[in-house]
Amino acid sequence: MLLKTVLLLALVAQVLVLENGLLRKPPMGWLAWERFRCNIDCNEDPKNCISEELFMEMADRLAQDGWRELGYVYLNIDDCWIGGRDAKGNLVPDRKRFPHGIAFLADYAHSLGLKLGIYEDLGNFTCMGYPGTTLDKVVQDAQTFAEWKVDMLKLDGCYSSPQERAEGYPKMAAALNATGRPIAFSCSWPAYEGGLPPKVNYTLLADICNLWRNFDDIQDSWRSVLSILDWFVTHQDVLQPVAGPGHWNDPDVLLIGNFGLSFEQARAQMALWTVLAAPLLMSTDLRTISAQNIDILQNPLMIKINQDPLGIQGRRILKEKSYIEVYLRPLVNEASAIVFFSRRTDMPYHYHSSLARLNFSSSVVYEAQDVYTGEIISGLQDKTNFTVIINPSGVVMWYLYPISKLGIPQQ
Ligand code: GLA
Repeated sequence: MLLKTVLLLALVAQVLVLENGLLRKPPMGWLAWERFRCNIDCNEDPKNCISEELFMEMADRLAQDGWRELGYVYLNIDDCWIGGRDAKGNLVPDRKRFPHGIAFLADYAHSLGLKLGIYEDLGNFTCMGYPGTTLDKVVQDAQTFAEWKVDMLKLDGCYSSPQERAEGYPKMAAALNATGRPIAFSCSWPAYEGGLPPKVNYTLLADICNLWRNFDDIQDSWRSVLSILDWFVTHQDVLQPVAGPGHWNDPDVLLIGNFGLSFEQARAQMALWTVLAAPLLMSTDLRTISAQNIDILQNPLMIKINQDPLGIQGRRILKEKSYIEVYLRPLVNEASAIVFFSRRTDMPYHYHSSLARLNFSSSVVYEAQDVYTGEIISGLQDKTNFTVIINPSGVVMWYLYPISKLGIPQQ
């Protein structure tokens, strides 16, 4: 009897767990929404409207401009692609804007070594009012996405009740699994329940979703970046432990390359998202992005830190009266990423500190590499005083590693 119960429980657990083995590292790629929104007027704005041409052009850029080799492989469609449902109830894309269909786009992405992501909404409508996936359509839509050879699904939560979401998200996870196609699952569920326990069950989410939006949509402004950061930091005791390989918090896309952030702020978003082990999903026009912004997004050491195999989310460890904050993310091989972040609005600030002040207390000798300048700071012991100069709304970011660990191959 006991054995039977144990076996039954094991079976139930197996059914509940997503276990798709995907996204052991935060996903990287491109997502249409923040930059291109629901621009469906292809007469007025043919180069920027939500259409297969836009996605093919972004795919070309990802493949040809060095993005793919660095890991930026997801090409993610967001809202406003749906035309309706056919006589069998199957989803179909807008015929004018996606004349060759989604399977064609998936093939195109795959032919370039990329992956295709798609968007739907658990509810009567998507947030922009297109046909949603109601509970009775979950299995059918999962099958459609698999037939199209889609690689990721972002399932939004507009126009549904908390009860429908509680039923629908696990149901979609199971339906995706049942298709046999590995499809990463991005759940907007927590963002619709306030992002915090007891309404949000992060243990369950980690079992059924590969990433999840916890909080508000990012907008093209520094104020928006700060409001998201503040929310994540305020709740870091809840959020930090629930992230890990295969299941990530998602503070929303990178704005870098758009209109709202200064150079310093763009560097700051990249550094802060990286210590938070956040997905690196760009939402910008890769056809016109500047060399300076490409440098921020294509920084190899930054990406190595974001993709660290331990997958530990960082935390804010210090908040100084001087409006300097320090963030730390532990990395493989006893390395760490440290971000010194200035919320000041006056001038470059000389911040004096030591590793001891950052809670390092061993006799190990460290070396740091400045992630943006490449400068090496060697011979750092816990009591060694150092100074970093941080620009207003900017960061200094260090990759810190014990010297004794030098030469050990990274995992
Ligand atoms: C919601 C989501 C956004 C985006 C839009 C599309 O607001 O949070 O990320 O997908 O819907 O309508």
